Amino acid sequence: MQTCEAATQLRKTGRVNVGANTSVPHLASVHFKAGVADVHFEVLKFALLETIKEAVPYMWSEELKEAWSESYDHLVAAIKSEM
Ligand code: HEM
Repeated sequence: MQTCEAATQLRKTGRVNVGANTSVPHLASVHFKAGVADVHFEVLKFALLETIKEAVPYMWSEELKEAWSESYDHLVAAIKSEM
């Protein structure tokens, strides 16, 4: 749901307004306290890509995979640097 809302905002305004519960410092704090480690982010990345592939097989391409992969890596890098 959040992904859809963010995509709609981005298309309409060219920006995404991130709520307090999804700010990077908050996400870093929550995941640090939960003991989330590097390996967990790797597993989630695999699961995310497989889920998108299964959900929209007709849209799946190497380009889409790379786009999601790059976005995920940027987000995780930001979260980890705050952790
Ligand atoms: C880019 C990667 C990730 C994003 C965007 C993300 C996003 C979120 C969000 C929005 C919450 C709710 C925060 C809140 O309650 O205020 C959350 C909680 C949580 N996430 Fe993630 N997450 C990510 C990666 C992971 C990974 C890799 C794991 C471990 C396998 C994980 C485990 C958890 C757990 C255990 C909670 C609940 C913490 C608690 O309520 O005490 N997350 N995550």
